[in-house]
Amino acid sequence: MPSLPGARLTVRPGRPLTGTFIPPGDKSITHRAYLLGMLARGGTVVENPNPGGDCQATLACIRSLGARVGRRAGAVTIEGCDMQPREPDRVLDCGNSGTTLRLLAGPLAAQPFLSVLTGDASLRRRPVARVIEPLRRMGAQLWARHGDRLPPLAIRGATLRPIEYSLPVASAQVASCVLLAGLFAAGRTVVRLPGPARDHTERMLPVFGVPIVASTGPPAPADGGGPMIAVEGPARPTGARLRVPGDFSAAAFFLAAAATTPGATVTAREVNLNPSRCGLLGVLERMGASVQRSQLREEGGEPVGDVTVTGPLQLAGCDIAPAEVPTMIDEVPAWVVAATGARGTSRIRGAGELRVKESDRLALLAANLARLGIGVEETADGIAVTGGRRGGSGRRPSDRHGVRGPGGRGRRAGDGDRRRRHPDLLPGVRRDPGGAGRGCRRRRHGSRPMSFVVTIDGPAGAGKSTTARAVASRLGFLYVDTGALYRALALKVRNGGVVPDDLAAVERCARETQVALSGSPEHAHVWLDGAEVSEAIRTPEVSELASRLAAQPPVRRRLVEIQRALSRRGPLVAEGRDLGTVVFPDAEVKIYLDADLDTRARRRALELEKRGIAIALDQVREELARRDDRDRGRADSPLQVPAGARVLNTSALSIEQQVDEVLRVVQEHPACPVRVAGGPSGGAAEGPVAGSSPG
Ligand code: S3P
Repeated sequence: MPSLPGARLTVRPGRPLTGTFIPPGDKSITHRAYLLGMLARGGTVVENPNPGGDCQATLACIRSLGARVGRRAGAVTIEGCDMQPREPDRVLDCGNSGTTLRLLAGPLAAQPFLSVLTGDASLRRRPVARVIEPLRRMGAQLWARHGDRLPPLAIRGATLRPIEYSLPVASAQVASCVLLAGLFAAGRTVVRLPGPARDHTERMLPVFGVPIVASTGPPAPADGGGPMIAVEGPARPTGARLRVPGDFSAAAFFLAAAATTPGATVTAREVNLNPSRCGLLGVLERMGASVQRSQLREEGGEPVGDVTVTGPLQLAGCDIAPAEVPTMIDEVPAWVVAATGARGTSRIRGAGELRVKESDRLALLAANLARLGIGVEETADGIAVTGGRRGGSGRRPSDRHGVRGPGGRGRRAGDGDRRRRHPDLLPGVRRDPGGAGRGCRRRRHGSRPMSFVVTIDGPAGAGKSTTARAVASRLGFLYVDTGALYRALALKVRNGGVVPDDLAAVERCARETQVALSGSPEHAHVWLDGAEVSEAIRTPEVSELASRLAAQPPVRRRLVEIQRALSRRGPLVAEGRDLGTVVFPDAEVKIYLDADLDTRARRRALELEKRGIAIALDQVREELARRDDRDRGRADSPLQVPAGARVLNTSALSIEQQVDEVLRVVQEHPACPVRVAGGPSGGAAEGPVAGSSPG
């Protein structure tokens, strides 16, 4: 999607995800059809080609090489050049398409002329040594920037000799490049892969009249490979007519979204179901989704059909082994979407190739998940995602837009009044040029509440954080530790060498800061600009700086924005001193926890004692009294009972009673999305993840 300067997309939960769609023609198959159409003798008709920029780049390149390209309704026609492309009079611009550049390098290596392949800035950062190596072995001369590693790639072709080549990585692009070069070499060119990769080239060559020898089967360490493919050259493809099936990669996000939405059912029709592309389907099944294939047939050598994915009540996390990665290489981001909604931690290994796509997809996934407050760990060749409940309306399925399971309205997940929360996922997308956090939390989108906020304010020692954490845990809500947010900002100020008294600099720094929370209320993770800082913020130095910064109005303003942004992702419990007054003045439930000074002092002393810090009760009492004066007397956001708050004096209550009382008040609210059993041990909320908050 082109980025609009200064524009943001706000994605809001929408209606339950149900429907049928036909994805656009497959990109990989379209590239190959264009390239073989250019090499072929006679005319080729490519129906339902992928309309995207990458395939347009291939089309422009084959034109420059002498193919005559025309268009008909829903099809591209190509008059091929019978294996004799003409020398291009310009640099060949592959745009953003690695497939164009790498596949085209194969036939160009056999031409008696010089060609130069390049592309946009991101393509010029992608490795090309992997195609230079085998093509040099076949006899061509190739040069690239940065020690022959990065495009532009210059090729002076030659009469090629056939080779047997074992690929170090299971890359379909490299295998295809060598096979296309092999069409020009006299003799048998053999390619071996370390594991399965997409096999569209070998499926399409026979459609253009070129026989291939292929074996699949398990990797055999003795001959160093899994699949083997061979072509006998010189070969002369003849023009063909083929219909491009729907792009599984384009369908994948919708299918993954269905898998992760309880009761959602999505059907992708007329989609390519080539097993070397659809690894994601098996993975979604393993995670508990129902996957049904129907209308199966073969078109142009490719399996095609309809696929329906239905989301279970709760997806289970799963691990992806390195051997599975090539069959879902472009679907890893879609799998990550599913993993964020699955119980537990899901891991993928052996996916280092994702770092050399149009972007470093692992790094971007990790940074963006962290920004969303989802627990994520990036490794050298993979990623671990801790899933569970995500943001969403949190409405009960019996609500207007609730999940309709197979049995009808509002599938019950438990007994009595305990129902599963439904994390609506189908996004309603809205442009929001002002960005997140402007003004108050938007309470309405249409007439639907977007979230559910519980604020707990009160003086020091009233038990706010213990109560908030326990309530959030029992309800499966996000626990917003406001102190951690201030500390994270303090860490940034300190690490960035910003002078804390330089208000303008601190304000600038605060503006540029992204803080996110993830994990469960008991084991929260704090993220600063995409990096985890949960431990680093717990030092006395950061703590001291945080309280200095918290006194500065611009800092508070930024933190208010961050807290409001968190509320848009789902129900939360936030505690502090200005939550119900300033941050969430229209919170659904506001609690003001109070206790007399003596009780608070006793509790605080006990807490300190548990941490090995012995302080006289009198001293604790004095400090609390001073803190009360400061909190109540400060000009900006003073501590006060928020309008509409329920005041609970907890002096005579145990912490369990306090938690139960707050739970009772919260659940009295008619929009409360969850019901939990009362009692000291309480039941966990009936929902996708009790105790694993989206952060
Ligand atoms: C492609 C192969 C894959 C894939 C890319 C398209 C193809 O790349 O990620 O989007 O059409 O051959 P690799 O071969 O580098 O794994």
